[in-house]
Amino acid sequence: MDTIHIRGGRRLKGAIPVSGAKNAALPLMTAALLTDEPLRLSNMPRLTDVKTLGKLLAHLGAELSVEPGEHADTTTIRAADIKSTTAPYEIVSQIRASFWVLGPLLARCHQARVSLPGGCAIGARPVDLYIKGLQKMGAEIDLVEGYVVASAPGGLKGAIVRSPVVSVGATHTLLMAATLAEGETVLENAAREPEIGDVARCLVAMGAKISGIGTSTLRIEGVEKLHGATHSVIADRIEAGTYAIAAAMTGGEVTLEGVDPETFDAALSVLRAAGAGVDTEQGAVRIFRNGERLQATDVVTQVFPGFPTDLQAQFMALMTTADGESEITETIFENRFMHVQELARFGADISLHGDKALVRGVPKLKGAPVMASDLRASAALIIAGLAAEGETVINRVYHLDRGFERIEAKLGACGAEIWREKA
Ligand code: UD1
Repeated sequence: MDTIHIRGGRRLKGAIPVSGAKNAALPLMTAALLTDEPLRLSNMPRLTDVKTLGKLLAHLGAELSVEPGEHADTTTIRAADIKSTTAPYEIVSQIRASFWVLGPLLARCHQARVSLPGGCAIGARPVDLYIKGLQKMGAEIDLVEGYVVASAPGGLKGAIVRSPVVSVGATHTLLMAATLAEGETVLENAAREPEIGDVARCLVAMGAKISGIGTSTLRIEGVEKLHGATHSVIADRIEAGTYAIAAAMTGGEVTLEGVDPETFDAALSVLRAAGAGVDTEQGAVRIFRNGERLQATDVVTQVFPGFPTDLQAQFMALMTTADGESEITETIFENRFMHVQELARFGADISLHGDKALVRGVPKLKGAPVMASDLRASAALIIAGLAAEGETVINRVYHLDRGFERIEAKLGACGAEIWREKA
């Protein structure tokens, strides 16, 4: 297995082009199942999760073609005929978002058999909200040998679905299901993450009738058919936030290119509060620190527009060397502190109290061999390694390749001493 090596202590200086968002690219790919015409997606990130989902779509009968570009791929997906409505365990267990084919398959083919999902082990991650929502829209659903078996013989029917919990995946699934349902669907307490808006805009370009985009109430008037479209994937706010934190951690100055600062404003505000410099302009963000120690700052993860859970691990890495004690509260996933024991290997002082981590800043970290436990936790280990004295070796980097495009190349171009060793 590949390992990533870092010799820490270098300031980052330069520009980083931000890739297309994984969390938008994946649901956008599943949206291609809603039509027999081609969906052309540009600004696609080059990630293993994208490849894995592509395999699933091909298994279902879609044809995919990839045009490599200088900075991103353009992927065209054409699901002229759906040959199978079964999403097998072997693929769905690798990547949770592949479970999201449930909505489009049920909407277009009126049936689907989808394995219960896998993905990062960051909590129980149930699928009850998806099931209840689809049942409200007239689907019959059984759980058979680890598969969700769903059917809607006469097609799905519009309904008012109020989710008790804000769920990104359930919102994507129900939104796609509703585009081809008969009549109006209202999704109340829907997720407002920018990636949902991106998917909704693509669906509108495909002929869907959706209002309330960007709010927590989405209204969808079902149509009989959707058509092909061309859509550019929004920039990855989590990747951008990760590099912003890396720049704050090491000092120096980094410009993040091609990103909308409003999509990760909560993270930028916390970085400012901690003492980092942040300048925003249309399409770019500049992060800098003059060498002074950062101040300990508390953070509570929340649904958008709050501080994202997907940046919690990275922010914790930043706080390990801040001045004072910071309290980090994780409200979205109950088991998302697996990076704590790995950060301790660098000499970080962190104690866990239920959904809170108390981080007591230490003057410096020391490089260590560490193990990536999940996608975002891997990025936290890179951030710690960039600031630590000596060499850090990160094992299990396949987690990183699922969601960060060429991370060592992007950091290396800003002066980090970071390299990959192939197994
Ligand atoms: C998506 C993101 C992930 C991010 C998360 C929260 C993608 C590919 N993944 O994951 O990176 O960390 O949003 O921003 O976009 N829940 C239920 N029942 C359900 C569904 C969810 O109780 O049926 C709970 C979950 O356990 C969790 C909370 O709702 O506590 C939020 O999860 P959700 O928003 O669904 O996360 P994902 O869509 O899996």
